[in-house]
Amino acid sequence: MMDISKIQNLKNQAISRILEAKTEKELEELRIEYLGRKGEITNLLKEIPKIKLEKRVEFGKLLNEVKKAVEETIKSQQFTIHNSQFVNEKEWLDVTAPGEKPPLGHLHLITYTIREISRIFEKIGFTRVRYPEVEWDWYPFEGLNMPKNHPARDEWETFFIEGLKHPGYGEAVLTPHTSSGQLREMENYKPPIRMLNIAKCYRRQSDASHAPMFYQFEGLVIDRGISICHLKGILNYFVIQYFGPERKTRIRPFHFQFTEPSFEFDVTCIVCGGKGKLRNGERCKVCKEGWMELGGSGMVHPIVLKNGGIDPKKYTGFAWGWGVERLFMMKYGIDDIRLLFSGDLRFLEQF
Ligand code: DAH
Repeated sequence: MMDISKIQNLKNQAISRILEAKTEKELEELRIEYLGRKGEITNLLKEIPKIKLEKRVEFGKLLNEVKKAVEETIKSQQFTIHNSQFVNEKEWLDVTAPGEKPPLGHLHLITYTIREISRIFEKIGFTRVRYPEVEWDWYPFEGLNMPKNHPARDEWETFFIEGLKHPGYGEAVLTPHTSSGQLREMENYKPPIRMLNIAKCYRRQSDASHAPMFYQFEGLVIDRGISICHLKGILNYFVIQYFGPERKTRIRPFHFQFTEPSFEFDVTCIVCGGKGKLRNGERCKVCKEGWMELGGSGMVHPIVLKNGGIDPKKYTGFAWGWGVERLFMMKYGIDDIRLLFSGDLRFLEQF
């Protein structure tokens, strides 16, 4: 039986459900439920002819009003859903809003350092070269005055390549230092030589200050009359260009098989300024009494010159081989090399 209050309830319920619909699909389902061929309102409309004549007009009017109200609510909700989609997808454009900056990356710190080193040495006539990273024993060892079974070899905890051997040049290894490039350079060019060999090196080592793969930059200068003064002058120039004019340098006697005499090259500490003490009088924890060690250098050994086909009576030379990561770490006071290879953006984005 038709009942006015039931019809009013039906209308209220339909409208409130429609206003809560969030998607076009939900809305369509509600439309079918109320106004579809078998919908609740449609069914009631079909009943009209059966109603007694006196009541028919009243119910007919009411039901048509309900139908219209529901249809209009659906239309307006359709519009709301449609617009809210644009708001969610940010498709609308506010021309007055400030633009969003796209995130900008930068070169990796090691690439950047390599470019900086190259630029400094290119200014004074050095040429950057590259030689094999998989190399015969002769170039990193035997030819550099380290015969087979020589104890000095132990320092270069080397990776060997199994089953690959050259009849004259020995076993294949992953270059443990860029010094292997010295002999390659001498084979390729005659003096004057000003070589800068920057390459990956490999050693069986891994801790806070050593990585199994790292970079070195090797310099080699060969000409008539080259002396220790040239070595000190050129490396001093580099240190001042890279670390700043207030740095001082010194050379300290050391031993390498391929240089004679050999040195360690030191620079004044960036933290305590070379004093060895902090302002509050405490000892500086970063350096040894004001000095930090950059790496090895020396005058090229006559045997090495001879192995490279250069007459040591006519020519002399000097060389150095320093770590790229170490250089960067010393400049910025970083104490763990692994950060440089981690790809951790929280670290990398600070530079
Ligand atoms: N190759 C040495 C190393 O890896 C460093 C080195 C020392 C290179 C003295 C040189 C040099 O060219 O003259 O420890």
